[in-house]
Amino acid sequence: MAANRGCVVISPSVLNADLSDLRGEIERLGDNADWIHLDVMDGHFVPNLTFGLPVIESLLTRSAIEADCHLMIEDPDRWAPAYAQAGAASVTFHLEAARDPVTLCRALRANGARAGVAVKPGTPIDQVAAMIDEVDLLLVMTVEPGFGGQRFMTDMLPKVRRARELAASASTMVWVQVDGGIDEQTIVEAAAAGATAFVAGSAVFRAPEPGEMVQRLREIATRAVSSSGSS
Ligand code: DX5
Ligand code: ZN
Repeated sequence: MAANRGCVVISPSVLNADLSDLRGEIERLGDNADWIHLDVMDGHFVPNLTFGLPVIESLLTRSAIEADCHLMIEDPDRWAPAYAQAGAASVTFHLEAARDPVTLCRALRANGARAGVAVKPGTPIDQVAAMIDEVDLLLVMTVEPGFGGQRFMTDMLPKVRRARELAASASTMVWVQVDGGIDEQTIVEAAAAGATAFVAGSAVFRAPEPGEMVQRLREIATRAVSSSGSS
């Protein structure tokens, strides 16, 4: 997988790809994606069920992807560290589901992963403020988690702005990531609000050339980030 190209990261979500051929779908991206976003859903935290650790372990032993794991699961305190141990580059859990988010972030870092904290649309981002120094990635959900192909929630933009302020207050670098409904239009607003890591599922995998779409999204976001000065 390609190294990060500057300050903007595109993380294609395979949720709406052909899951019977996950490796093949990732290969369709060529060398264009920075990270690969893997949506783990347990049928409890969200009303959908996808794949879990065995699938991600297999992928990681067979390809050199930077796995950006988004765990939409209950009890991440118990399950999330194993994703870091398996070699995931980022492990993001939901604040709403965690019992002890600080200890969990430390466990993820200790196992070599970025510690990611996600918030659903109804959860105020300020709940992460007191623990920002424990966090490497703040994920602002711009749809209700559970399904791909939903419409971007414009009313999440103030939360993205606040996430950027929190990231700026941290003593280490914190990615501000958005996930849900990101396409060539909405990525501009999200980048202008302060996001620099973008998950895109249907926009990428429904494009005739997914790899080219990743490049296009990165170009658009890079322009928007530099003109807003949030990098
Ligand atoms: C939704 C997932 C997203 C989803 C994004 O719960 O977390 O990662 O795959 O898909 P699009 O880009 O189609 O909204
Ligand atoms: Zn996701």
